[in-house]
Amino acid sequence: MLAVRHGRSAWALLATALALGVCVAACAPRPRARVGARAGGGEPAASNAGRDGATCASCHAEVAEEWRASLHRSAFTDRPFARAYAREPRAFCRDCHAPEGDPSAGVSCLSCHRVDERAPRPAGSPHPPHRAATGPSAACARCHEFAFDDERARGAIALMQSTVREHAASTSRETSCVSCHMPRVAGHRSHRFGITRDAGALRDALAVEAVRVGDARVRLRLRALGVGHAFPTGDLFRGLQVSVETDDDPTDVAFARPTARPPAIATKLLTRRFTTVRGPTGASIVVETSDDRLAPDRASEVELDLGEHGRGRPVRWKVEYHRAEVADDDPAPDARVVLHTGRLSP
Ligand code: HEC
Ligand code: HEC
Ligand code: HEC
Ligand code: HEC
Ligand code: HEC
Repeated sequence: MLAVRHGRSAWALLATALALGVCVAACAPRPRARVGARAGGGEPAASNAGRDGATCASCHAEVAEEWRASLHRSAFTDRPFARAYAREPRAFCRDCHAPEGDPSAGVSCLSCHRVDERAPRPAGSPHPPHRAATGPSAACARCHEFAFDDERARGAIALMQSTVREHAASTSRETSCVSCHMPRVAGHRSHRFGITRDAGALRDALAVEAVRVGDARVRLRLRALGVGHAFPTGDLFRGLQVSVETDDDPTDVAFARPTARPPAIATKLLTRRFTTVRGPTGASIVVETSDDRLAPDRASEVELDLGEHGRGRPVRWKVEYHRAEVADDDPAPDARVVLHTGRLSP
């Protein structure tokens, strides 16, 4: 339920917040503009009262509660970001991870909602429209697609995230990001943004069929279900790892052996890969060399070979979602999620 305070003083407070809010939304540096490599940027300036979502939260309690539990709220403070930012503390990062200047608020109400003072007040609302941008991806595009931060690149630079164009090229292009990521709950759009951290939902978003091809090969057919962009999308370190390994289960009478042989393993990581080359100005720039993530609209096939060592042995296959940088020595607890697994007899 929405707790509404229509009192004059509440409105005056709100008006001040809104005036500040207009500036926050309109004056925030555009994330795509390359702010430049200012190393050692430190913390963004603390926000003024009313600039954060606190004013909004006093009336929109349910929405605020959902937002508080979301990754948008912890965008500047969560462990994966904090670790990456400690290595690379650039002003550029703060444009998206704390655009309102308050690290503890991350991506807050005014990062997405813009106040339109001139438009008529919506029915039932005590304030002028605070609409988030509409359109298939408009409310999300300014942060969910951007290039590497390199001033020397002159347009030749690779995208660090490309979710918006992946979506625009998919058959889901008419389905907005909002309709999949902000389902309606109790009459409003949820601000929890939870499906991407729900292992069950991630599993439901992938169908896998595995078959043996000859003695030592396994073929997996992978298909994304109800995903409006590549799977995975987003951060450049996301990937799907497909693996197959011999599995001589001693309890399986048919394959029991007096001494278990060591397992043979074959793996493949489906992800985006980058390299640096010499750009037009002579400086080295990042380019994308390959991308074998799942496309949203067609199945991918991966074939893995265990070689002689796998011949005639039972195998176990596994598809794992990787969130962290592969080289990360101390990844977050949910950095790897096993999505599907199965066993195939010879
Ligand atoms: C990541 C972007 C984002 C953030 C952060 C965000 N919102 Fe929203 N909000 C949206 C979008 C998008 C909509 C849906 C617009 C539409 O229906 O087309 C929306 C809808 C709403 C609505 C209308 C609810 C409904 O569905 O009828 C309210 C109220 C609202 N937001 C309040 C807030 C408050 C309060 C905060 C801060 C606690 C907040 N929002 C943070 C993007 C955001
Ligand atoms: C004094 C209480 C109050 C405050 C403070 C308040 N709202 Fe609202 N707001 C309402 C009511 C009441 C409605 C109409 C019912 C509804 O849609 O939830 C509304 C409607 C909305 C809507 C949907 C209609 C529209 O404008 O598009 C959005 C979005 C919204 N508020 C966002 C915000 C944001 C963001 C803030 C903080 C800057 C905020 N509100 C502050 C009471 C408030
Ligand atoms: C102001 C920038 C900004 C806007 C606008 C924004 N986001 Fe985000 N979003 C972020 C950042 C930064 C993160 C990463 C948070 C973190 O560090 O984990 C994120 C995280 C997410 C996640 C969680 C991803 C995961 O790894 O689980 C989803 C889903 C998401 N956003 C969807 C949306 C959608 C849909 C919209 C539009 C309605 C939107 N965002 C608008 C900046 C933004
Ligand atoms: C047809 C529904 C659908 C649409 C449209 C959609 N998404 Fe997603 N999105 C999903 C599903 C399902 C997942 C979880 C599977 C996955 O990880 O890709 C997901 C995952 C994500 C993630 C987490 C990274 C990842 O892949 O694990 C982000 C960030 C995200 N979406 C942002 C967006 C943005 C921004 C848009 C609009 C440009 C958008 N999504 C449009 C369904 C959708
Ligand atoms: C233009 C906006 C933008 C900029 C600039 C940006 N990011 Fe992000 N970042 C995002 C979005 C959106 C996501 C969410 C995508 C996802 O979860 O896959 C994200 C996700 C991340 C994640 C993964 C978080 C998690 O919970 O797994 C890390 C780490 C990260 N960013 C670090 C950085 C660092 C460090 C910088 C500066 C060098 C930076 N980002 C600059 C938008 C941005």
